[in-house]
Amino acid sequence: MKIEQDRISVGGIPVRELANRFGTPLYVYDEEKIRANYRRAFGAFRKYYPNFEMFYAVKCCNNPAIVNIMRQEGAGADCASVNEILLAKSVGLSGEKVMFSGNFLSDDDIRQGLESGVIFNLDDISILPRLLKFGKPEMVSFRINPGYGRSNVGEYVTNAGPNAKFGIHPDKVTEAYRLAKEAGIRRFGAHMMTGSCITDADYFPFVTGLLMDIIGKTGRELGIDFEFIDLGGGLGIPYKPDEPGLDMEAAAQKTAEMFRNKVAEYGLKPPQLKMEPARYFVGNAGYLIGSVHSIKESYRKIIGTDVGMNVLARPAMYGSYHHIYVDGKESHARTKLGLCGQLCENTDFWVKERELPADIAEGDLIVVENAGAYGFGMSYQYNGRLRAAEVLVKNGAAELIRDRETFEDMVRHTHVPAYLTK
Ligand code: LLP
Repeated sequence: MKIEQDRISVGGIPVRELANRFGTPLYVYDEEKIRANYRRAFGAFRKYYPNFEMFYAVKCCNNPAIVNIMRQEGAGADCASVNEILLAKSVGLSGEKVMFSGNFLSDDDIRQGLESGVIFNLDDISILPRLLKFGKPEMVSFRINPGYGRSNVGEYVTNAGPNAKFGIHPDKVTEAYRLAKEAGIRRFGAHMMTGSCITDADYFPFVTGLLMDIIGKTGRELGIDFEFIDLGGGLGIPYKPDEPGLDMEAAAQKTAEMFRNKVAEYGLKPPQLKMEPARYFVGNAGYLIGSVHSIKESYRKIIGTDVGMNVLARPAMYGSYHHIYVDGKESHARTKLGLCGQLCENTDFWVKERELPADIAEGDLIVVENAGAYGFGMSYQYNGRLRAAEVLVKNGAAELIRDRETFEDMVRHTHVPAYLTK
């Protein structure tokens, strides 16, 4: 994103031009930025541990165009459901490039996951016998909850530790792999995903040490060679303009060092190291363009936009901060204002008070930053406010990668019993 003489552009295209062409609210992704983010993260870890691979957690932003960018960069896909597996397969990823990390799976999920030939990452020991009813995968991985998790999104996305619903308790890990081994499974991986949006580089070696102490003992006791250890995602981005970002070099160097030391300590055959981040790749490469439709002065002054919690759920859901720019007015005098969307819910009043250009007016465009991760994917159609369009920009050109929803989309798949139409 660039601001020149107050005019904002993304990927070399003025946001006004994007809004005129595609309408608002509009998700815009900067392809070069996604690629640069991937290369920075992958390059750093690869440098310190060459047998390294990254999978992209597609839940973060599941547009097939984005998943294709990640595939072109060499990433596999981390999938939470059968439909995400179908998406990963549809862009041409093969089974060994897809990890299925669903939780609380149904029998249908398990059967279809098995049939799809992807790497099965089991969130609980109880899934194993259910999986074996349908067949025996060549390889399994278990998701381990190492007893500790953290996140910059408060407690909301702390995905490990005693309060998390994810993963296997450390005391049950050896039993899980023993059962798998006894069932004749010969290839093994191990996984954790402890939290999201962490910008403290020391966190990653710390949790790696926790996981390796669990896995090391299991490997030694059962004589298992782990083919891979997956450290999950969690690479964080700063959301506030003055917030420091993650020191990727330090995170990679210290994590690889911890990993290597633990591999040596437990006498393991050096496994491949995997990670499956998502936010770090697409978070700051995605922008949400909205229009100011209406301004009211009531108990306070409120700027009404078409960016509501239906379009970007994170602020209402987690109290997350997203920076807002106003096209053409960034250098203007500021005053404290409220800003909201168009829904009939007060949680939609997602900026209660913030310094914004004092002369913000109807017809202005706002640009919400860091909207690429968990933005569109968590949006919904409440109040008949339909899902936004998505656009990919590269070298000054824009391509529509998802149509704006229409009324037909809103009622598609609904059925009215005949007697109700009389
Ligand atoms: N792997 C697994 C198994 C995951 O569940 C996730 C995200 C990731 C990888 C990618 O994590 P990341 O690198 O993006 O931290 N909706 C929340 C974030 C939820 C994270 C869910 N799991 C938010 O908007 O902050």
